[in-house]
Amino acid sequence: MNILLIGSGGREHAFAWKLSQSNSCSRLFIAPGNAGTATCGTNIDLATSDFPGLAGFCRDEKIDLVLVGPEEPLVNGIVDFFRQDSMTSHIIMIGPGKAAAQLEGSKAFAKDFMKRHSIPTADYAEFTAENYSSGVDYIKSHALPIVIKADGLAAGKGVLICHNHIEALSEYELMINRSKFGEAGKKVVVEEFLDGIELSVFVLTDGEHYVLLPEAKDYKRIGEGDTGLNTGGMGAVSPLPLVTPEFMQKIRDRIIEPTIRGLQQDQLEYRGFIFFGLIRVNGEPKVIEYNCRMGDPETEAVIPRVENDLVELLVATSQKRLDEIDMQIDPRATATVVAVSGGYPGHYEKGKAVIGLDGHALEGTIVFQSGTIAEDDAIVTNGGRVLAVTSYGENINEAVEQSVYMLEQLHFEDMYYRSDIGYEFRGSDPEATAPETNE
Ligand code: AMP
Ligand code: GLY
Repeated sequence: MNILLIGSGGREHAFAWKLSQSNSCSRLFIAPGNAGTATCGTNIDLATSDFPGLAGFCRDEKIDLVLVGPEEPLVNGIVDFFRQDSMTSHIIMIGPGKAAAQLEGSKAFAKDFMKRHSIPTADYAEFTAENYSSGVDYIKSHALPIVIKADGLAAGKGVLICHNHIEALSEYELMINRSKFGEAGKKVVVEEFLDGIELSVFVLTDGEHYVLLPEAKDYKRIGEGDTGLNTGGMGAVSPLPLVTPEFMQKIRDRIIEPTIRGLQQDQLEYRGFIFFGLIRVNGEPKVIEYNCRMGDPETEAVIPRVENDLVELLVATSQKRLDEIDMQIDPRATATVVAVSGGYPGHYEKGKAVIGLDGHALEGTIVFQSGTIAEDDAIVTNGGRVLAVTSYGENINEAVEQSVYMLEQLHFEDMYYRSDIGYEFRGSDPEATAPETNE
């Protein structure tokens, strides 16, 4: 099979690494890719938003399967675009169509979907310029903290947890009246704050059946101990000691299965990954958000634990045969530690040489790349998140220590990483669960 993978992050390097191991993968292309994906296949200089260019490439190179990594092309309808064109309509597309991608693309759509299908989530109300003043009253009388969310995609910045009403009202006003997040924020979801441990659960679904991938937890804040600004993700670990078989059964019964049935009832065609951003509140799972794709850096921790052939899984997805698949999961833990450019998530410089990638192979460790580019004979930084180093271990502690050890062998100017990834799970008791708080 000829495969095109769309995207350029660490998630795509992990996917490319896995796809290239499959006997069913003849040629692998990545658009636009990074210096890491170039070691698994051929990078193509096409933007993820260039649907006609990508479609033309697929026709010329006889691509059989397209895996879409990031949310933006999905939310903007890449799957529908390929389906509607006779030149590309035969291609297996992994990712939801535009309608179902609204689960991520519109928070109001996702909340309405959950309400309609009785899927547990935070209580909420939605407001626009039309019912602006009811929103003001709603916020004023709401318990604190209160969560204010821009409806559409806002590059991870559209969620504000407000600890007083004045701040909440001001954010609300900025979003609706002053277009703080452009069109994405002209509709606002105002939500109850949920206090608990966050976790990420992933499935691959053919719209009727699903297979469960290993769960993970990501670490979004820039500073150790979960302090400072939010980032795209500084690391991830899998599995989570708090996800007991009983807790996972609750997640399947109350969240995953009602979601897949809901998609069918609403006639929302879905063949691809669903990422459930969950929170455990008093032992019960609730949905914080849906994403219509895999997470980054969670993919770098999760995919190395999947022993099945990924191309076979994707083909079974396209043929609605996922009920025939027996998932094989590596029992070892994985930990991914992300190395970022100095200054990230604020201003940072690019073009710094990454040293040590050739010389330091370490058994049980994979160095995934995200913001990198090959320049002459060197690999240089090209983004905020630069490397995502994943290691296997008997437990999370061992896996994190090995990833940190690997990072000590690698270098670029002003490189920074968190060495406390997975900190809640690294005590002497391997079954330890984290305290019930995300504050
Ligand atoms: P989202 O973009 O919806 O994932 O929100 C980003 C982050 O904001 C989540 O990962 C949570 O840490 C936090 N968050 C969102 N909604 C809530 C909520 N209702 N209660 C507590 N934290 C939340
Ligand atoms: N790591 C969170 C995300 O991919 O959205």
